[in-house]
Amino acid sequence: MSDIMVPVALADRPYDIIIGAGLLRRAADYLGPLSKGRRLVIVADANVTVHLEHLQAALDGAGIANHAIIIPSGEASKSWNGLAKLCDDLIALGVERSDHIVALGGGVVGDLVGFASAILKRGCAFVQIPTTLLADVDSSVGGKTAINTRAGKNLIGQFHQPALVLIDPEVLSTLPSRQMRAGYAEVIKYGLIDDAAFFDWCTQNGAQLLAGDSAAQVHAIHRSVRAKAAIVAADERETRGVRALLNLGHTFGHALEAEAGFSDALLHGEAVAAGMALAFDYSVRRGICPAADAAQVRGHLAEIGLPHSLLSAGTKASGAALTAHMAHDKKATGGRVPFILARGIGASYVEADVNLADVAAFLDEAE
Ligand code: GLY
Repeated sequence: MSDIMVPVALADRPYDIIIGAGLLRRAADYLGPLSKGRRLVIVADANVTVHLEHLQAALDGAGIANHAIIIPSGEASKSWNGLAKLCDDLIALGVERSDHIVALGGGVVGDLVGFASAILKRGCAFVQIPTTLLADVDSSVGGKTAINTRAGKNLIGQFHQPALVLIDPEVLSTLPSRQMRAGYAEVIKYGLIDDAAFFDWCTQNGAQLLAGDSAAQVHAIHRSVRAKAAIVAADERETRGVRALLNLGHTFGHALEAEAGFSDALLHGEAVAAGMALAFDYSVRRGICPAADAAQVRGHLAEIGLPHSLLSAGTKASGAALTAHMAHDKKATGGRVPFILARGIGASYVEADVNLADVAAFLDEAE
C-alpha cells in the first residue's frame, strides 16, 4: 500500500502529514531532501530506542549522517530544566536555523522538541515522528508546543508548525494497551465533534483497531489527521472558534487530571474520555442534546474500557473543587471558561455562556 499524504494547508507554512505502515524504515525518502547534506539530529524518548534504531538504520543505509539525543521519558522532561538541557545540547551539536530537528516519541518529546525548535536561534525547523496513537492523531499535528511549569501544564509555549509529520502505525505494536486506549479517546473525539458517520465507524471498528488491526488503525489515523488538518488550516491560533472544538472533553477532563495530580493514575486521554461523556451529559442537562446520544457516547467508551463517568475516572471530588480547577484553565478569558458542548453526536459547538455554579451542581449530581 502506498503512503497516504494529508496536506496541512497553512498559507505561509504548508506541510504534509505522511501516513504509511513501515514508514520508519523508509523515512530516509522523506528526510533525505530536508537534511540538505547536513547531519540530522534526532531527539528521542528513552522508551522508543527500538524505533530509534530502525530510524537510524534507515538513515545510515541512505548515507544520511545523524546523531541521537535521548531524553528521559515522562512529563518531567517537559520542564524549564529539560528545555535548557536540550537547547544546550542542540547548540553544542552545532544545529543551525535551517536544520531540521527530528522529534521521535510521544507528546512529551513532540511538545518539548517543538518548543526548543521554536526558540533555538530564534526558530529552527523540526519534524514530528510520533510513536503513540495520541501523538499520531493529535499532538504531532497543528504546531502546539509547550513545557510545563509549577503553575500548570503547557503554560509556556509557542505555536510552531513542524515542516513534516511522518506517521508509521507499525510502531503502535509496542505501545501498552492502556496508552492505545487513551489515544483512541482522541480518535473518537473527531467523530463527536462533527462527523457522526466516523463515530459510527468507531463503534463498529474500535475494538479491532485496539486489537492491532492495521487497516483500521490507518483508516482512523487518516480520518483523524485529515479532520485536524482542516481545523488547523481554518484556525491555526485558536482565535476563530474553530480550533477550540478540539477541546471537547478537555475542560471537564482537565479538572479530573488536576484532581489526580496529573499523575499516571489518570492519563490525559482517559481524562478526555470521561470529560467527553460529562460534556454530553451536561449538554443533556441543558436540554440541547438527546439523552440517547449521550448514552451512546458513554456506552462506546465503557465498551472500550475507557473512563466514562466521575466514578470510572476515579474522581470523588465535589463539583466546587472540580470547577475551581476549570476557573484556572488557560483558555479562560475575563474569568469565563468556554465549554465545548454538543447538540448531538457530530454536532459540537463552543458555548461561551456557561455558569460554573451550574456545572458544579451538575457534577455534584453526576455519578
Ligand atoms: N490538542 C488540541 C489542539 O491541537 O488544538
